[in-house]
Amino acid sequence: MSLIKTPQEIAILKEGGVILSETLRKIRAACVAGSTSEELDQIALDEFKARGATPSFLNYRISPSDPGYPGALCVSINDEVVHGLPVPARVIKDGDIVGLDIGCWYKGLCTDMATTVCVGNVDPRVRALSEATREGLRRGIKAVRAGAPISDIGAAIEDYIAPKGYGIVRDLVGHGVGHKVHEDPQIPNYREPRAPHVIMQTGMVLALEPMVALGTWKIKQLNDGWTIVTADGKPSAHFEVTLAVTDKGSDLITPWPDV
Ligand code: MF3
Ligand code: CO
Repeated sequence: MSLIKTPQEIAILKEGGVILSETLRKIRAACVAGSTSEELDQIALDEFKARGATPSFLNYRISPSDPGYPGALCVSINDEVVHGLPVPARVIKDGDIVGLDIGCWYKGLCTDMATTVCVGNVDPRVRALSEATREGLRRGIKAVRAGAPISDIGAAIEDYIAPKGYGIVRDLVGHGVGHKVHEDPQIPNYREPRAPHVIMQTGMVLALEPMVALGTWKIKQLNDGWTIVTADGKPSAHFEVTLAVTDKGSDLITPWPDV
């Protein structure tokens, strides 16, 4: 299927993106000390059902050998970078940094987004990490424009994040999205000379998603087959939007849930 979406498809993606963003806004508000990951996942399931969307992560497999993903939402706490499982239920505590990643199908097309929540009294260094990751994503978005190389996105993110001494996760990247949860092109969040050279075109729909750690960029996967954690156990942050490439820049498909 073409990586270029039609204006009609982009209109549908935007409808789905609003549902996704409003769902994430609700989940974000419920992500407080004492709430559980499973309760947050249930909000996603209920909201999607009420609005005619279906979860795109539920039963998803990145590779055929993966166990099907067991929820609608990824809840990644502290040293967990992404793909933290919502079940079995875990209690969110004061001081946690929690990544919330969600995707849905709506009228045959899918969108993807994530935010990070600092719960209560979070270490100021960790709060700064989260803010920097959000700003890194904004810088990446500003690099999007038809005619420019995809690698401009990672360069913009790296130029903002690397001088702060944080680790930019290298083994996971942003991606095309829409007809499938993960499509080409891959979008590294750093300069990657080995990545395929792709020029952005009007109508491409991209999920930009920097994952940034307080320490090393190295990650490992837990035995559950999903949860990705930092190799040094330090906290990390993750923000993601889906957008459409335009001649002048980009058109946001998943409005920010928290600004
Ligand atoms: N937003 C996630 C990503 O792009 C999708 C996770 S799929 C899941 O990596 F199955 F892990 F939820
Ligand atoms: Co994604």
